[in-house]
Amino acid sequence: MALAGTGMFAEILDGEVYRYYADGEWRSSASGKSVTIVNPTTRKTQYRVQACTQEEVNKVMDAAKVAQKAWARTPLWKRAELLHKAAAILKEHKAPIAECLVKEIAKPAKDAVSEVVRSGDLVSYTAEEGVRILGEGKLLVSDSFPGNERNKYCLSSKIPLGVVLAIPPFNYPVNLAVSKIGPALIAGNALVLKPPTQGAVAALHMVHCFHLAGFPKGLISCVTGKGSEIGDFLTMHPGVNCISFTGGDTGIAISKKAGMVPLQMELGGKDACIVLEDADLDLVAGNIVKGGFSYSGQRCTAVKVVLIMESIADAVVQKVNAKLAKLKVGPPEDDSDITPVVTESSANFIEGLVMDAKEKGATFCQEYRREDNLIWPLLLDHVRPDMRIAWEEPFGPVLPVIRINSVEEGIHHCNASNFGLQGCIFTRDINKAILISDAMETGTVQINSAPARGPDHFPFQGLKDSGIGSQGITNSINMMTKVKSTVINLPSPSYTMG
Ligand code: G3H
Repeated sequence: MALAGTGMFAEILDGEVYRYYADGEWRSSASGKSVTIVNPTTRKTQYRVQACTQEEVNKVMDAAKVAQKAWARTPLWKRAELLHKAAAILKEHKAPIAECLVKEIAKPAKDAVSEVVRSGDLVSYTAEEGVRILGEGKLLVSDSFPGNERNKYCLSSKIPLGVVLAIPPFNYPVNLAVSKIGPALIAGNALVLKPPTQGAVAALHMVHCFHLAGFPKGLISCVTGKGSEIGDFLTMHPGVNCISFTGGDTGIAISKKAGMVPLQMELGGKDACIVLEDADLDLVAGNIVKGGFSYSGQRCTAVKVVLIMESIADAVVQKVNAKLAKLKVGPPEDDSDITPVVTESSANFIEGLVMDAKEKGATFCQEYRREDNLIWPLLLDHVRPDMRIAWEEPFGPVLPVIRINSVEEGIHHCNASNFGLQGCIFTRDINKAILISDAMETGTVQINSAPARGPDHFPFQGLKDSGIGSQGITNSINMMTKVKSTVINLPSPSYTMG
């Protein structure tokens, strides 16, 4: 089995620096500079990628525009066929791509493989869904609107937007890249990918799978580099017709600067877990641990605050602590449950929230422990609203518990957040669950399970500062199209008699 950067992936590497992908070729930047990717576990340089220039971005945009025109004329079934091919290559080469995820973002080995497999499945599903939903248009007749006879037929169908800019985050550099690439391509768009720095090499390997599938030159490109040099330049580029971004509050800045182009943004969350007295407490504890601590809490959909009725709080905290004690903490290569967080600055930020909670009197269910980027799982009980961790997202293995005396108190805390991604409710009473779900100002509410984006065809959206637009395969395909109508005007009204 080939390792990252070897075998069929050898051409994406130039000496010690990974190339960028433009006009159907792997290239080295004229800048002669590179960006360093530090392994979160060893804290040593793991990889280097090209520091692309603005001139190179301009060329990529020009090539994308030309390639898109031809691609939009490529039959839908052929677009789908190529996506299926890319999906198969991606899954076949899951091992070297997963290896990059382990080294770049310290994703536990098993989860890294799952991310690649899930991505292949997502691309295949996108191809199938695209064939179905883009294969249909609408016929409207004019006499349904007052004052009209049936003398106009309106034919409307979905057409591509042009060039889609995709910016995925570090925590799913492959999956959240293909969730943008697949819909963009099936809908007839060109795609420019700007991967996150941590995760860029996994993304480059993934892009090579699309290259090997045989997509036309220039249709897909991947530029790497410093945000300060090409970040704003890309998002404000006149050649971009749509931006799909997942990440932190940089997305708010992008939204303000982007021109009149459709935006799809997912910017994090502070997902609340509301637990009622009648809940299945073992189910609750399992979901708090899975939801709050998988990938060390570095998921936008992680449970980020537990709002639990006082009468059952002691019992649940005890069950959660028992499960936390069993988690394996260590390097991702060992398939640990808790692995180092992505950067030192991220670890420092998490520590800041923990120390603030300590000063303000939160109960530490475990001793706070940190070695470099590795932070041991920590449950903070008796958290109060005056503590930063009650509102801010740590993006780490640290979870606050706020004890509540009424459901209204829980809903109030959830809705007072500036985020509104997902939330969850644990109760055996479905009627209560629906009422609470309706009252929660979040894009999705899970009943009796932790928040999660998947399955990947489900709609996925955030309210408030959590985002704009809805994702999920079907919604993303629709979002990356616009409607075009052609109206046939008959010389006289005509009614079909059957
Ligand atoms: O980090 C943000 C992701 O969209 C979360 O995805 O729920 O599959 O972990 P996930």
